[in-house]
Amino acid sequence: MARTSLPGSALLKALSGHPSIPPPIWLMRQAGRYLPEYREIRSKVASFLDLCLTPELAAEVTLQPLRRFDLDAAIVFSDILIMPYALGQSLEFVEGEGPRLDPVKDGGAVAKLEPEIAEARLAPVYETLARVCANLPCDVPVIGFCGAPWTVATYMVEGRGSKDQAEARLWAYREPETFGQLVDLLVETSAEYLLGQVRAGASVLQIFDSWAGSLPEDEFARWCIEPTRRIVERVNASAPEIPVIGFPRGSGPLAVRYARETGVDAIGCDTTLPLEWIGRELQPLLAVQGNLDPLLLVAGSPALDARVEATLAALGSGPFIFNLGHGIQPETPIAHVERLIRLVKA
Ligand code: CP3
Repeated sequence: MARTSLPGSALLKALSGHPSIPPPIWLMRQAGRYLPEYREIRSKVASFLDLCLTPELAAEVTLQPLRRFDLDAAIVFSDILIMPYALGQSLEFVEGEGPRLDPVKDGGAVAKLEPEIAEARLAPVYETLARVCANLPCDVPVIGFCGAPWTVATYMVEGRGSKDQAEARLWAYREPETFGQLVDLLVETSAEYLLGQVRAGASVLQIFDSWAGSLPEDEFARWCIEPTRRIVERVNASAPEIPVIGFPRGSGPLAVRYARETGVDAIGCDTTLPLEWIGRELQPLLAVQGNLDPLLLVAGSPALDARVEATLAALGSGPFIFNLGHGIQPETPIAHVERLIRLVKA
């Protein structure tokens, strides 16, 4: 069951639009290679995908950062590319290189995807969530997530991570109807996936749109805002009590449209957005999350301390969730994470 009544949760308080002092903190990619206990478990499985699909281990890895640090949320250990895998696309994480998929290049390939097998293939993630929820103090929310259709589509189309998402952008310009079929399929399956995570125990959801920044305004509205709006609408219809955080990385000033039009409860801010601008343009509309540079967490004091102070001064008196502006780096010293959390909670 979803943890919907977590009275002490600073994260849920911020997500409902109220300042929480000190602000809640969690870190994107808070489970991962910077933790020796993660590397230990990772070394026991053949691949990263196996780790995501083995609930006992994925649950353990989810809980690891919460044992070490005073974090205000867990985030289920999985990956946004589980969705293409669930749709029957081949997926492999190549050591030291990143994800490799058998590219989906046209409408014919979209028609061959298998949404009917998705729920069965996603079942291990639901089981991971249930295990995490059973093993956490009852006032700690668990965040479920998916990739936004645009970002997931870029990987499905390119077959790997890419510098500028050119193939997906070209397809969207040349044949918006068939590209739209792929995005529509992802809207449907992602909404179902998020609701499945709520049934398994997630009490907050995040939608990662890591490549939102590669689209100009009209395409941003069509391929980032609109699909996200439809997912949020579906989630709100079935699980109105569950807040949704959107993370349109690289959106720049289009973040204001995203905040106004998608219906998300909070917006994740990347490192490029000025604190003063976030406070003026976004925070009056909704809760904001972010946006410490992950490299500052690698560098540590004194630069880290100064920026944490500036962030709290700019955003701490409104609804705010402290986080990084992108995922934590593998070379991050654990002592710096400890220091960050101490500074935020001082
Ligand atoms: O935040 C968390 O702790 C939850 C786990 C999580 C992972 N990936 C684990 C992971 C989350 C929320 C993600 C999201 C994700 N995955 C995004 C969106 C956020 C972002 O970073 O922009 C994207 C684009 C992906 C796709 C992905 N996964 C890539 C490109 C790679 C390879 C590059 C890399 O960082 O290694 C991954 C692998 C991945 N996902 C790892 C982890 C811990 C590293 C793999 C390993 O441990 O061997």
